[in-house]
Amino acid sequence: MENFVPAEPDDPNSFGPNPNEYRNWGWSGGMDRKFCLYISGQKKYTLLAMKRLLGEKEIRNKVSRLAGQISRDFAGREVLLVGILKGAFIFMADLARKMDPPVKMDFVRLASYGRGTISSGKVRITKDLETSVKGKDVLIVEDIIDTGVTLKYLFRRLKARRPRSLKTVTLLDKPSRRKVRFHADYVGFSIEDHFVVGYGLDWNEKFRNLPGIYVVK
Ligand code: IMP
Ligand code: MG
Repeated sequence: MENFVPAEPDDPNSFGPNPNEYRNWGWSGGMDRKFCLYISGQKKYTLLAMKRLLGEKEIRNKVSRLAGQISRDFAGREVLLVGILKGAFIFMADLARKMDPPVKMDFVRLASYGRGTISSGKVRITKDLETSVKGKDVLIVEDIIDTGVTLKYLFRRLKARRPRSLKTVTLLDKPSRRKVRFHADYVGFSIEDHFVVGYGLDWNEKFRNLPGIYVVK
């Protein structure tokens, strides 16, 4: 196809076509590779290739192991899981179902003032918890730590509300991207500096429903 233009993945803000130009997209390729075909307003075709980084089984095993570790550490206590919307919702649903201690759940939604996926360093809460965390054992559940700005901000805000304990779990961690010091108590997978989608993670709201985790090429 002569007007196939490969997407440029280096900067997650710049790769691929303008998402507002979406007309059609769909999958081709197998389990390891997915190809997403965009048809833009200018009738140009862009092929967005995704390579599978983590499969369903690998994720499931890791989530079980994390849940086991967390269950041991929190044994005999009730845990309040605080999920960060939207990315963490699938991870939290799977994690919670593998945990032994009694669990309650709540969610926050955060926004950063930066453009696209690059954090500017300024974060705010756009949907707060509906539960008080005072005196409770709280575990923040995040999908991925990148610069660390988001989680550091939320951690500070919740700490000020005087929980009995405050811990963090993240499925993915990109330590090489850190701009502020932050270590999660529980980390699923430490990954290279790739932009990833699937299992809750999105690119412009797309691909959250992929059961595996894919690097966008
Ligand atoms: P941080 O404040 O830079 O650590 O940003 C963390 C947030 O950025 C995550 O909650 C994700 O929503 C988003 N993010 C960072 N890296 C990726 C990625 O590779 N894919 C999808 N979202 C990402
Ligand atoms: Mg997120």
